[in-house]
Amino acid sequence: MLSTEVCEYVLSRGSVRVGILDLGATLSFLEMPDRKGQVKNIVAGFPHRELYWQNDYYFGCIVGRYANRIGEGRLQLDGRVVQLSVNNDGNHLHGGFEGLHRKRWRPQSLIERDDASGIVLEYMSPDGEEGYPGNLRIQVSYVLDGAGRLYMDYIAVSDAATPVSLTNHSYFNLSGFENPVIDDHLLRIFASRYTEKNGANLPTGRLLPVKGTPLDFTALRSIGERIGQLSRDQGYDHNYVLDGSLAGELSVAAELYDPDSGRQLRILTDRPGIQVYTANWWDGSVVGSQGVPYGRHGAIALETQAFPDSPNQPGFPDTILRPGEVYRTTTIFQMNTK
Ligand code: BGC
Repeated sequence: MLSTEVCEYVLSRGSVRVGILDLGATLSFLEMPDRKGQVKNIVAGFPHRELYWQNDYYFGCIVGRYANRIGEGRLQLDGRVVQLSVNNDGNHLHGGFEGLHRKRWRPQSLIERDDASGIVLEYMSPDGEEGYPGNLRIQVSYVLDGAGRLYMDYIAVSDAATPVSLTNHSYFNLSGFENPVIDDHLLRIFASRYTEKNGANLPTGRLLPVKGTPLDFTALRSIGERIGQLSRDQGYDHNYVLDGSLAGELSVAAELYDPDSGRQLRILTDRPGIQVYTANWWDGSVVGSQGVPYGRHGAIALETQAFPDSPNQPGFPDTILRPGEVYRTTTIFQMNTK
């Protein structure tokens, strides 16, 4: 019988500590001090590791092979129709029923340098898994340095053409859930456009300006200020087109700040988009690792990724990984206090 035991690796540098699970290559906790030095875990997680086998909200895990939605789970690839599993209202979401978040990853190596510690995890996704073509070999590394930066490097290679877009699905509440909602957090997103979506939460293909809409976070704004205007989604659930990443180089994507605790998170990435999701369907039924129930708007996920449904949108950046190519991307979570 396969063991359901889950292993946790702890990386520690200065006053920042992170936990990484072999299940889903999940970021299970992220502890950092506030401006008075009080340390709290600022990400959503479960109080027991075995609960991650369920993880319906995708706490902290790596999602894929394709993060976000693919319409009807279907795409055309080199003249063939590829049918992926359909696990969300007729669409494919976050890699399907048994996506990468429900797989056991193999620790490949531990990194111990003067300036940083880290871990490399690997998963071999077999041809046909959740409908995806090709054997895909994926490596994700988490490296924490002494300046409060957590580097996430993603590498993947495949023996057949397949869509790939990986992300980390951590939810942040910089008060450490002392405040049960993130309405008072200030957010800045380095994006002047977003991908318009239809009623099925799929992109229409149009990139629209955020200016003059509740989606405008080009200057630091409180999340709660206009969240009530987004009644259809019960909050934010939108993909932003990052201004800086069009060149494919690392740049700041988002900045999140909790004025009460002084904790700040900056996210840097080379990805074209970021999905902003304010835990709109959390209903208080999960009591998280901080010992409090997780309710609506209890945290915010900032998921660096390719645009949703890119394989069906000719105008969006290409997301097909081909044999001989290497998928290689980086996202950094940078922790600070101010
Ligand atoms: C998506 C939401 C989805 C949620 C599931 C987010 O990344 O944007 O639409 O409901 O994941 O936890």
